[in-house]
Amino acid sequence: MITLAIETSCDETGVAVVESNADYRHKVLTNTTATQLKTHAPYGGVVPTLAAREHTKNLPVVTEKTLNTFFESKKTKEIDRIAYTNEPGLPPALLSGRIFAKSLGLAWNKPALPVNHMDGHLYSFLLDPTLEDKDDIFPMVALIVSGGHTQLYVLEDLRTKRILGQTTDDAAGEAFDKVGRLLGLPYPGGPAIEKASEKGDPQAFAFPRPMLDKANYDFSFAGLKTAVLYTVRELEKDNKAIKNKLQADLAASFQEAVLDVLVKKTSRATHEFSASSVVLAGGVAANKTLRSRLQKELEQLAPQPHFFIPPFEFCTDNASMIGVAAYFADIDDRG
Ligand code: KG4
Ligand code: ZN
Repeated sequence: MITLAIETSCDETGVAVVESNADYRHKVLTNTTATQLKTHAPYGGVVPTLAAREHTKNLPVVTEKTLNTFFESKKTKEIDRIAYTNEPGLPPALLSGRIFAKSLGLAWNKPALPVNHMDGHLYSFLLDPTLEDKDDIFPMVALIVSGGHTQLYVLEDLRTKRILGQTTDDAAGEAFDKVGRLLGLPYPGGPAIEKASEKGDPQAFAFPRPMLDKANYDFSFAGLKTAVLYTVRELEKDNKAIKNKLQADLAASFQEAVLDVLVKKTSRATHEFSASSVVLAGGVAANKTLRSRLQKELEQLAPQPHFFIPPFEFCTDNASMIGVAAYFADIDDRG
């Protein structure tokens, strides 16, 4: 099954061709992501109407390039279907992808399947080319941390999942982006905070660990963001400039607080559900400290669960993950 996948939920225009042959056999034949970072950077966040305009401009160019690469490498194969992100995301941005995908479907007489973006993140670990067929990985706990969502799932198998908890306010990535702005770091805040943290002391500021001790799997990061805001205001009142070591200490202390909550709650769920494996995915999963801290935490559990992370380039938004999720989406052409 060859899927042309289209992702336009936020600020990345993604087009990919993915070959899916079995549950654990998905191959990215070609993947292109055109980022709109420069368009949105001056606004400190993504502007939905600008995102839609850029997607509409980029989609034909990126699709042509992706298809050319595909047809050159696989002369005998043809596209079986189209998959596009239908939710969640920025409505104008989603609409541009949907219209494009539907039009291609009509022109080629192929189905255009709507796919959930969070399912895309969830199944992105299957894009790891070193992954082998596994029969001992369920129950599975999955932590999906993106700019718009923080979700913890338990899966009985690849098609049966239940949500354990999610954010009650800001998502983890959103908190990184907002705190990045507070600290005067460039957009997006996640990678900038990670970089700044390398030179900072994670114990320098004792920020709160929201919901850490609550006996549920929900998350809340708005209070933590406000705590950073008040700290920054106090420091500025004392004429301290938020830069260099101070900026790094604030970044590292904030990152530590977020990671403490994510790692502990995931580990607790793994233990409670006797999970045989853990998946970490979504844009924030690109954070190396999160990856290594969760890995270390899981190594403490007995028996030690398998730990799956998508390849680095498939953590943040991309179309390949939409192609994989289409394989698991039990849907007709109803989008
Ligand atoms: O999954 P994604 O690409 O888009 C959404 O579906 O929202 O996630 C984007 C989020 C942004 O908030 C960005 O700051 C965050 O992922 N992010 C990171 C890192 N790289 C991206 N957060 C922390 N550390 C990173 N290295
Ligand atoms: Zn995403």
